[in-house]
Amino acid sequence: MTTLFEPAYAKLNLTLDVLGKREDGYHDLQSVMQTISIRDDIEIDVGTGKPWRLLCSVEGLPTDETNLAWKAAEVFCRTLKKDPQGLEIRIVKRIPFGAGMGGGSADAAAVLRALNRHYGEPLSVLALAELGAQVGSDVPFCVLCGTAMVEGRGERLRKLPDMPDCVFVVCKPDFSVSTPELYRKLDQTAIPLRPDNRAMESALLAGDLGAVAENLCNVFDPVVTAEHLELNYIKSICHSYGALNQQMTGSGSAIFAIMPSFEYAAVVCNMLKENYPQVFIAKPV
Ligand code: C5P
Repeated sequence: MTTLFEPAYAKLNLTLDVLGKREDGYHDLQSVMQTISIRDDIEIDVGTGKPWRLLCSVEGLPTDETNLAWKAAEVFCRTLKKDPQGLEIRIVKRIPFGAGMGGGSADAAAVLRALNRHYGEPLSVLALAELGAQVGSDVPFCVLCGTAMVEGRGERLRKLPDMPDCVFVVCKPDFSVSTPELYRKLDQTAIPLRPDNRAMESALLAGDLGAVAENLCNVFDPVVTAEHLELNYIKSICHSYGALNQQMTGSGSAIFAIMPSFEYAAVVCNMLKENYPQVFIAKPV
């Protein structure tokens, strides 16, 4: 038996635009995504000689074949025609769920990377990311990591210059949002403000953190904020204590702020912790 270890990094959407509904029911996106240092840890025993099993360090997540990490292992073994002779996947969970931080996708991507390494890298990173699209829309980016432009349903990736070094505060409020429902709502809403992805790319190319912050924009943010005004409270704390900018990530409900320094981030973190148990300080990875 061999044990594999792989980190699973959370993602933030620096920009997120929804371009339109496709015939397959999904939506075409254009999003600049960034992985951050908030992470789950994945351990995989290969060759247990027993039926597949998945264990998670926290309750409330599926531990059967509906878990994206399990699905990823299934897709990898089926496509590459590998029989691992029994798998046990253990997930040490730290990424908040229902947050828009791609926690399940990050776990799935880590499983793909770990198995690919175990079998001697039969797939390139891009081929592995393509395989990840069969598991979930955010999985391809989570395989790639770093800073990237993500298009199509989430399967078209283009690496961008690394985000300039900075400090994030991430706050997950107590409610969560249903992603399919939010897409339905967006279909019935006129989108008032869309991201300028060209400006975001230029900001990244120039390594200009101020311009990156200025160009944060997520079309889901106003839709969710209109129904959950506490997001404005979280944003106002970030803003008042020096954030360069702040917004919701993905389909929510977590808010992230780009802070000018660790000291400012610590102040915002302590303020938010008075009301929210799930507040984190993170860096881009
Ligand atoms: O692919 P994934 O399971 O992550 O997507 C969750 C849901 O989000 C989908 O069932 C779909 O309703 C919606 N979605 C979408 N367009 C995308 C990604 C997700 O409509 N590009």
